[in-house]
Amino acid sequence: MDPFAVLDERVARVVEELEEQRQASRGGVPSYPRAPMLHPESARLLHLLVLVGKYRRLLEIGSGYGYSTLWLAEAAHRNGGTLVTCEIEPRVAEANRTHVARAGLQGVVSHLVGDARQNVADLPGPFDFVLIDTVKADYLTYFELLIPKMLPNGLIVADNVISHAAELAEYLERVKSHPLYESVTVPIGAGLEISRRVR
Ligand SMILES: C[S@@+](CC[C@H](N)C(=O)[O-])C[C@H]1O[C@@H](n2cnc3c(N)ncnc32)[C@H](O)[C@@H]1O
Repeated sequence: MDPFAVLDERVARVVEELEEQRQASRGGVPSYPRAPMLHPESARLLHLLVLVGKYRRLLEIGSGYGYSTLWLAEAAHRNGGTLVTCEIEPRVAEANRTHVARAGLQGVVSHLVGDARQNVADLPGPFDFVLIDTVKADYLTYFELLIPKMLPNGLIVADNVISHAAELAEYLERVKSHPLYESVTVPIGAGLEISRRVR
């Protein structure tokens, strides 16, 4: 099956464009801030998890240009839910907003532009699905901020746990030993840590 066939046609078109840009920018596009996109297989897995879990209150930390935002928002939309996405770089957030609007998902996504460490602290929640894909040194801070804001059965997914295993060692130790979470490392893309709140 065509990997994009699971997406609404309008969303798939923008996702495919971003895929093309990913290919074209190997080696870096100096005029744009770096915001490496989620691996396609990781994005597909997250889309599937949101649909299967019927999650409706999604949060993304590290919006980038919109690749993961579009996959998550498409699934949230199918579930009748919404996605809040956090990005610190105004230029990147603006590009994300444009991609979301072109995909017809502007009614599903709220953009928070600024430091997510502050914005996540201020958000009341609750959330049932969170993607953390940002500065590795901040993952643990986000996890601690999210503990009181997650619904039972909610997932916190962290990207790059294999590609940046050393930097994320403390994060992994914390989520794997936390009494409220079961957590598994999935060797797909750059490595996803999927942590489910058990009660
Ligand atoms: C790996 S990229 C995100 C890629 C995106 N998830 C995707 O798949 O297309 C990380 C993003 O986090 C943003 N970022 C870094 N520090 C941040 C902070 N403190 N608050 C919010 N966003 C931040 C960067 O500007 C960058 O766009």
